[in-house]
Amino acid sequence: CGIVGYIGKKDTTKFILDGLKELEYRGYDSTGMALLNDEKIDVFKALGKLTNLVDKIENATLDTYPIGIGHTRWATHGKPTELNAHPHLGEYSYVVHNGIIENYKEIKDELISKGIKFLSQTDTEVIVHLFEDFNNRLNDTVEAFKNTINRLKGAFSILLISKADPTKIFFFKNGSPLIVAQGNEEGEVMFASSDAPLIGLAKKVVYLEDGVGGVSSAQDIEFFSENYSWNTLPTSKQFAQKDGFRFFMEKEIYEQSDVVSDCMIGRIQDNSINFDEISPELLDGINEIKICACGTSYHAGLTSSYLFERLAKIKCNVEIASEFRYKEPLLTKDTLFIVISQSGETADTLEALKMAKKAGLKSVVVCNVDNSSMTRVADFTILTRAGIEKGVASTKAFSTQTVVLWMLALYFAKINSSISSELLQSEIKALREVPKSLIVEDRIHEKTKRLSKRYLHGHGFFFIGRDVFFPLALEGALKLKEISYLHAEGYPSGEMKHGPIALADPELFTIALMPQNLLYDKIKSNVEELSARDSTICSISSLEFELCDDFIKIQETNHYMLEFFEMLVVLQLFSMEISIRLGNDVDMPRNLAKSVTVE
Ligand code: G6P
Repeated sequence: CGIVGYIGKKDTTKFILDGLKELEYRGYDSTGMALLNDEKIDVFKALGKLTNLVDKIENATLDTYPIGIGHTRWATHGKPTELNAHPHLGEYSYVVHNGIIENYKEIKDELISKGIKFLSQTDTEVIVHLFEDFNNRLNDTVEAFKNTINRLKGAFSILLISKADPTKIFFFKNGSPLIVAQGNEEGEVMFASSDAPLIGLAKKVVYLEDGVGGVSSAQDIEFFSENYSWNTLPTSKQFAQKDGFRFFMEKEIYEQSDVVSDCMIGRIQDNSINFDEISPELLDGINEIKICACGTSYHAGLTSSYLFERLAKIKCNVEIASEFRYKEPLLTKDTLFIVISQSGETADTLEALKMAKKAGLKSVVVCNVDNSSMTRVADFTILTRAGIEKGVASTKAFSTQTVVLWMLALYFAKINSSISSELLQSEIKALREVPKSLIVEDRIHEKTKRLSKRYLHGHGFFFIGRDVFFPLALEGALKLKEISYLHAEGYPSGEMKHGPIALADPELFTIALMPQNLLYDKIKSNVEELSARDSTICSISSLEFELCDDFIKIQETNHYMLEFFEMLVVLQLFSMEISIRLGNDVDMPRNLAKSVTVE
């Protein structure tokens, strides 16, 4: 899931380990690096955390290596084992790869029939054998690399080194991100799958486009096509530290109030909403909004669909990007296409965006990472300004996305004249209160900590809500699944009676989102139905409800969206505290990656 590479006179091993450390938070299950000098290639691989690789390297006798490549792997083909970790070896070359080679089976069979032996179960290994097979025949590494690339189908960002040409790194980008950088020192070239490992060490970078590759020595970077341009990188890094919190996730929950304030700066001016990034003409000819996203970002999208219809009176539908891609969607130019992504790199969302662009739709990305792939494809970018989010379970990305989308709904409502000035004013007033609703009260954190011990078993959780509290329920359930590994479902509370209520018994935990300002009586009836069937109920509300077993009292407010954010904090803390009690790795839960650049 992460790639780094280095050519130069500095300590190659250190550059690679530091780079992999920067990429660590994205989630991985094994690590590895290959180091090359004129004489030999040395390779180190380790299962599990990066520290295991560091230990191996510290115990080894190292040479000086002017060239190296490194990788953090998130398993796709083949289990997470040391053998399946990258780099993968041929006879005399090594490769690291992000993505999936879709036609690997066919190539593998062909190579096996030529007597080539495979060591791993990965799709990646075909790349290195294919390269060597071409090189053995052509005796030309550049041509061999070009031929290799031409045979591969799917998504593949690659770095390849070879004893056949020991002063060079071959590179190619397709699908997953890859950056080439000129280091600050003379004769230094660097590679990375995101800019974090490069900041401070390189100023000039090329964010490779799909289909662009090349070969680089210390002195010369040769691109195989003209389709590239140099950009500058910021020189100082945005450091993310835990600042005394136990986990990044905890820190990021506590940060939400501040980052949401940042996200509103300049966008709420006096009594109106303004986005410098877009203009009112964006809505010309638009009758409908389609939103595409994955994971938590999808939940922010679902939440906003209620707001786009309710406030801006624009038809809005939301789709999971991986579903959208293959359903042969009917795309018409009167649709504004919005993608939402924390990272801006999620493969399915990026592809959905490209499909919409190809169909001629206007597009907007709501994103947290500037210069990410989606910001370079979409017509317009609205940044969420959440700062680096390190916890794999997304928190502040979601709250900032939701606030941006709520503001966007109001911005569109104003353009469409679909909102009275009184309602607009009261919505803006509520928006200004969001940072307050996101402040973590000690009382609430303590309560979730205490309650968490009662919710560690059982045969499942239902998070239930109506309207925007339904996507919030989905998000609450997702948080719990991600970091506690407990089974949880989010459900529209009115739908429980059509099936899931059959599960109700004391071991079924229902987390009921009961906002005072939206459909309170309706959800109350649904909760009563569950209570009558003995489900264990924890209600989150500003109003006390006698039929629940546990109760988390949020502040009383006068807008349902403020209740939404109050409850969001409760749900995030609740899942975090359960995860801590279960002894799980809160920031890097098993099997998950922060940004998923494979489909
Ligand atoms: C991964 C992460 C989730 C995230 C999803 C979408 O699965 O673990 O936390 O919500 O990707 O990511 P994006 O960067 O597109 O918002």
